[in-house]
Amino acid sequence: MKVRITADRDYTIGEVSPRIYGSFIEHLGRAVYGGIYEPEHPQADDQGFRKDVLALVQELGVPIVRYPGGNFVSGYRWQDGTGPREMRPRRQELAWNSIEPNLIGIDEFQEWARRAGSEVMMAVNLGTGGVEDARDLVEYCNFPGGTALSDRRRANGFEKPFGIRTWCLGNEMDGPWQIGHRTAEEYGRIACEAAKAMKMTDPSIELIACGSSSSSMPTFGEWETTVLKHCYNEVDYLSLHSYYGNRSGNSAEFLACSRDMDRFITDVKAICDAVKAIRHSDKTMYLSFDEWNVWFHSNEQDKQVEKWTVAPPLLEDVYTFEDALVAGCLLITLLRHCDRVKIACLAQLVNVIAPIMTENGGRAWAQTIFYPFRDASRYGRGTALDCKVDCPSHDGGAYGETPCAEAVALLSGEELTVLAVNRSLTDSALLELDLRGLGKPELMEHRQLWNEDLKAVNTADAPDTVAPSQGDGKALRPHSWNVLRYKLKEEA
Ligand code: AHR
Repeated sequence: MKVRITADRDYTIGEVSPRIYGSFIEHLGRAVYGGIYEPEHPQADDQGFRKDVLALVQELGVPIVRYPGGNFVSGYRWQDGTGPREMRPRRQELAWNSIEPNLIGIDEFQEWARRAGSEVMMAVNLGTGGVEDARDLVEYCNFPGGTALSDRRRANGFEKPFGIRTWCLGNEMDGPWQIGHRTAEEYGRIACEAAKAMKMTDPSIELIACGSSSSSMPTFGEWETTVLKHCYNEVDYLSLHSYYGNRSGNSAEFLACSRDMDRFITDVKAICDAVKAIRHSDKTMYLSFDEWNVWFHSNEQDKQVEKWTVAPPLLEDVYTFEDALVAGCLLITLLRHCDRVKIACLAQLVNVIAPIMTENGGRAWAQTIFYPFRDASRYGRGTALDCKVDCPSHDGGAYGETPCAEAVALLSGEELTVLAVNRSLTDSALLELDLRGLGKPELMEHRQLWNEDLKAVNTADAPDTVAPSQGDGKALRPHSWNVLRYKLKEEA
């Protein structure tokens, strides 16, 4: 088959915000303890952070990391994680039925993020917490000094403010599983009041209101509309969350699931713009897709995990090659909406539904989904072009007739990058580029992720089973992720 991509310098989607390549660390399972932090590990640095994990995070290229949850944040007292470690309480953690030792809190995490080359995207507790706790945390983190809270931070060893720019107003407050779950009216009100107080404390911050925790929530649509009617003026982004899994065993259908993400973003954009019109507002509401990934492999084994232990092995999905292709399709979808999606977070980063896995006391390695993320984060920069992708389609099961290729083109100076997934399970795709005055493309590199076995995985013993290789620049192999990098030369 053929895939023909037509692009023109004058037809663009928008600039790619680097923060579209964010990720997420929650106090959940072994993400923090045994993941980023393990003071007894041979690779621990002076703060107890694992250097092997830091190196992989740096390689991945993650400009922003959401913290500390997730469901965890809705029962979290941020003060528990500050001050001398020996004074910090151990607590029953109700979101994941674990024990939280509070050895890591915002003081340590912002230092970890600095070492990783990331900024922190901080979530406040709007489940059991309220306006006061939320604005207190902003003062603790961002006020220079001379107040009780900022001086407490300084006494804890952090003279300079953390300068955390981006804040989430709670997490998945539409979900009945959430501690302190609220109706849209209740959440809209508290989000508005927390937002006002937080911005009074530090007017430079940006705020994200909770949208729906998936497009399949019964309250989807109504939730966004009601919440935004309350806080449209006070917030800067609305969040979206979505997880996918190959539950039916139908790979063609699974590879088509990015169509759901595409539809979700399109619908949320429309809702935001409807509220904008109702409000007679000039402000555009941007989107923060701050949880996305494949999540289903670990669902059954998680039911067996012992409760009330510290850092139990929860949500440890072992990702297949097929999952990496889905991650690639999802990344392309986010890029195709980069005019509105300004922040996105691969959920999560280490051990918990993560591109990076570790053994306690042992090795760290890259899962299959690591590679499309790393490629996109490295090369998926610049201006996304509104290109036309012509290719055959096939049956995507529940997602309907689905194009065999998912692709986006990005222009950065005189370089053009095409990110593409060939969804066909049987046919390779000959690539044709029609660049309409962009110049003559000279191939610099064709990186691909391909494996004969859709179910191939990487493990500690075989970490390179699924790893990138070079393509021929002409064809996209059946079921493959591809990065084609061109230098644009002037036409003769
Ligand atoms: O990422 C795992 C969980 O998924 C998060 O804690 C929650 O926000 C979502 O339901």
